[in-house]
Amino acid sequence: MPGTFDIATAHKRFPALKEDQVYLDNAGGSQILDDVITSITDYYTKNNVQLGASYRISQISTSRYNQGYEAAAKYMNASPDEIVLGSSTTQLFVNLAGALAFEEGDEIVISKLDHETNIDPWLLMADRLKLKVKWWVSEKSELKLTPENLKPLLSPKVKFVACTHVSNVLGTIHDVKALADTVHEAGALFCVDGVSFAPHRQVDVKAFGVDFYAFSWYKVYAPHIAVLYASTAAQERIKSYGHYFNPTKTLEDKLGLAGSNYESSQSLTAAVAYLDGAFPAIKEHEGKLQKILLDYLNSRTDVTIHGSTSADSNERVPTVSFTVEGVSSRKIVEDAEKISNFAFRWGHFYSKRLCDEILELGPEAVTRVSMVHYNTEEEIHGLVEVLEKVLP
Ligand SMILES: Cc1ncc(COP(=O)(O)O)c(C=O)c1O
Repeated sequence: MPGTFDIATAHKRFPALKEDQVYLDNAGGSQILDDVITSITDYYTKNNVQLGASYRISQISTSRYNQGYEAAAKYMNASPDEIVLGSSTTQLFVNLAGALAFEEGDEIVISKLDHETNIDPWLLMADRLKLKVKWWVSEKSELKLTPENLKPLLSPKVKFVACTHVSNVLGTIHDVKALADTVHEAGALFCVDGVSFAPHRQVDVKAFGVDFYAFSWYKVYAPHIAVLYASTAAQERIKSYGHYFNPTKTLEDKLGLAGSNYESSQSLTAAVAYLDGAFPAIKEHEGKLQKILLDYLNSRTDVTIHGSTSADSNERVPTVSFTVEGVSSRKIVEDAEKISNFAFRWGHFYSKRLCDEILELGPEAVTRVSMVHYNTEEEIHGLVEVLEKVLP
């Protein structure tokens, strides 16, 4: 029920949080909801058979799987025919890149602020179809993809544009609706990586106006599975990978490749039920968490926050990356681990072009703290105390 989500008890819904560890690497992968774990155990215990047969248990398994698919589609405001589940966002984008058709000499635009998952598949596609690649960048001072920095790259020759909704390093939220409008005015298709957005805000592909959108459920409190949306119109550009005797009507027919394991797919019903109406409370709570950390980081003259320095929840999600003058990102993490149970990381997090070419950082790149709604204010105050001890 919308409006009834209780942030205070969310912590109790994640059995892993009983471990002696404070999870602040959630942009890497979240912990799993209790009902999702129960659902998977139950499926393995009672329903682990091949789908589509006429015997009783197979009928139940098929129905559970279909319900998971329907829940996942409804969750992102798509129809079941417009989504495909698969092992990872990377896998789904690679599948899509291999199946899309464009004319030789057409142009595509790819952003350098992205995780390599939303870059490499399109480079492969460009190579396969002999397309020209144009790079979309943002000045180091701004670090945001906008219609203004996109427009100079667009022309009638551009047929496909890809970018991230939220960078997994910067945490800044992009206005995908404004970007989608700009891309569509130029007559191109728009593909968005929603992986770092989805754990924090409601995904609504129709409101975003995108043609393709993917995210990874294993970062949204569910198991290791991902989803790709392609609008019915955009699917006309996709050739089917399905066996020749199978239907080719839906996105699952075209790109599914039997890639979504049954137990995970059916468990999405439970994940979606938990998140129903949850995001206003999640946004508010995460705003408090990020403010505690950002206030501390902003108060230090030796710290650079990479991404928005504002704690405004309309501006960013609580994925916060920073560097400290004279101290390597790796040392910060290692020193914190010696004195605490806080789990966060250093590195480029596969946004290597961003870290190397735009942020101009060394191989140890940033220290990243990535919070989600089950983290508590107490935990983040504790983290600040730890940082205060390990930073110069
Ligand atoms: C922004 C972003 N995009 C894509 C990915 C890749 O997702 P997957 O592991 O499902 O391929 C990640 C993983 O960390 C990510 O953070």
